[in-house]
Amino acid sequence: MASELSVIILAAGKGTRMRSGLPKVLHPLGDWPLIRHVLAVATRLDAARVVVVLAPGMEDVASEVRRSAPHAHIAIQDPPLGTGHAVMAARQWLVPRGTVLVLYGDTPLITEATAAALLDQCRARDAAVAVLGMEPPDRTGYGRLRMQGDELWEIVEERHADGDLKSSAPCNAGITAFAGELLAELLDALPLRPEKQEYYLTDTVALAHARGWRCTATVGPWEDGLGINSQRQLADAERVFQDRVRERLLAAGVIMPAPETVFFSADTSIASGAVIEPNVVFGLGVNIAAGARIRAFSHLEGATVETGAVVGPFARLRPGAELASNVRIGNFVEVKSAVMRSGAKANHLAYIGDAEVGENANIGAGTITCNYDGAAKHKTMIGPDAFIGSNTALVAPVSIGSGAIIGAGSTITRDVPDEALAVARSRQQVLEGRAKSLRARRIPKSASRPVEPVAGGRPRSLTGSSE
Ligand code: UD1
Ligand code: MG
Repeated sequence: MASELSVIILAAGKGTRMRSGLPKVLHPLGDWPLIRHVLAVATRLDAARVVVVLAPGMEDVASEVRRSAPHAHIAIQDPPLGTGHAVMAARQWLVPRGTVLVLYGDTPLITEATAAALLDQCRARDAAVAVLGMEPPDRTGYGRLRMQGDELWEIVEERHADGDLKSSAPCNAGITAFAGELLAELLDALPLRPEKQEYYLTDTVALAHARGWRCTATVGPWEDGLGINSQRQLADAERVFQDRVRERLLAAGVIMPAPETVFFSADTSIASGAVIEPNVVFGLGVNIAAGARIRAFSHLEGATVETGAVVGPFARLRPGAELASNVRIGNFVEVKSAVMRSGAKANHLAYIGDAEVGENANIGAGTITCNYDGAAKHKTMIGPDAFIGSNTALVAPVSIGSGAIIGAGSTITRDVPDEALAVARSRQQVLEGRAKSLRARRIPKSASRPVEPVAGGRPRSLTGSSE
C-alpha cells in the first residue's frame, strides 16, 4: 500500500572522488541535478514520506531539494558516519510500521518499475530486508551479495570479499527495502566498523539473518544501480540516460534517423511524428509538436515549436522562443524571448530577441533586433505580413506596422505605420568615370594598395576590397 511507504534518500556524502568542488548530487544528468532524478522516482512511487539525508553545510543541496520536492523532509546527519548512520538520522520522519525504501542520491538511474518490483518482493515474501542486486560490467567498488538460493545471508563490502564472492556474486546496488517494524531493531544493533569508523547499512542483512528474519535480493538491470562516484561514472550514466530517452522517443513515434547523435534533457517533450535530424541538442524546457522538423546541428532551450514549423539547420532557440505553426527559422538564426506567429520566417543570419513577429512576416538575412541599450532590454513589435529587408537594425523599443516594408540596410529607430515603406540608410553616391582615374593611380601589385590620407587618422583603402 503506497500510503505506508517512506523513502529515504542518502545524500550526505561529500563526493570527494568527483574532484569538481560541486556537491556530488548536484552534478547534472540530462541537465537535472542527480538528486532531482531520485526525488522524481520517490514522488512517482507515491511515498507518504520522503526524507533526504544531508550533511551540515549542504545548503545548495537543501535548496535544490526544496525546489524540486517541497514535500520532502531534510534530515541532517552530523557528522556523517556511514550509510547505516544516515538511515538512523532519518528515523524520526518514517511512517511507523510501513515499508521503508532506501535510495541513494548518487544512484540516479533507478526507475520506478525496478523500485516498485523490489517493494513488491519485500512485501510478498514477508522479508525484513530486500536488496537490489546487479551484474554491472565494472564491479569495482560495490559490495557483494552472499546468497543461498534466493535467500540473502550477508552483504560483504568489496575490500572484505574473498576471490569467489568477489568474482561471481551479484553486486549490491545499495537500494534496499525494509519492513519498517523491524528496521529500528536492526539499526540499534549496527556495529561501528573500525576500519572506516562507520555504520554500514549493509550490515543490517547479516543482523536480520542471525535473527532468523528473511532477507531477499532481486537482480535488476545494472543501469538502475549505476552508482556515481567519479566523473567517469557520471559520463557513463549520461550515456545510459540519453539511450533511454532515445529509445522511449523512437518507440513513441518520433522520427529520428541518427538518434545516437541527438541529446536530450530530462524534461524534453517531443510529440510523435516530429522529425529530429542528426546532431541536435535539447536543453531544458523544450516542447516540440507533431509535424515539426528540427534540422541538423540546432540547439534549443526553453522553446516551443508548433506543428509544421521548421528550425535549422544550425539554428539556436533560447528560452522564451515560441514558434507557431509553419514558422521557418533557418541557418544561423537566434531567437530569444520572442513569439513568431504562424507562417513568420527568418531564414538566414538573424537575431530576434524580445520581440513579437506577426503572421507571415518575413525577416531578411542579417536583421538584428537591437534589444539591449546597455542597461535594459526593450521590445520590438513586427506586424503581420511585414517585410524586413536584409541587414536591418531594429533599434528597440520600436514597432513595425502590419504590411510595412523596410528597405535593406536600414537602421530603424522610430515606429513605422501599417503599410508604410521605411528606408533609413545613407544615399548611394555614383561618381561617373571615377573608377578609371582610380585605376590609373594604382601602384604595382607588389607595393602597397592605393590609399587616401584621412585627416588625423590612418590611411584608408578607397575600394575597401579584400585580397
Ligand atoms: C555503498 C555500499 C555498497 C554498494 C554501493 C552501491 C555501504 C557500506 N556500501 O558503497 O555495498 O555496493 O553503495 O553504490 O553501504 N551517504 C550518506 N551518509 C554517509 C555516507 C554515505 O548519506 O555517512 C550517502 C552518500 O551520499 C551516497 C550513498 O550514501 O549517496 C552511498 O555512499 P557511498 O560512500 O557512495 O558508498 P559506496 O562506497 O558507494
Ligand atoms: Mg557510492
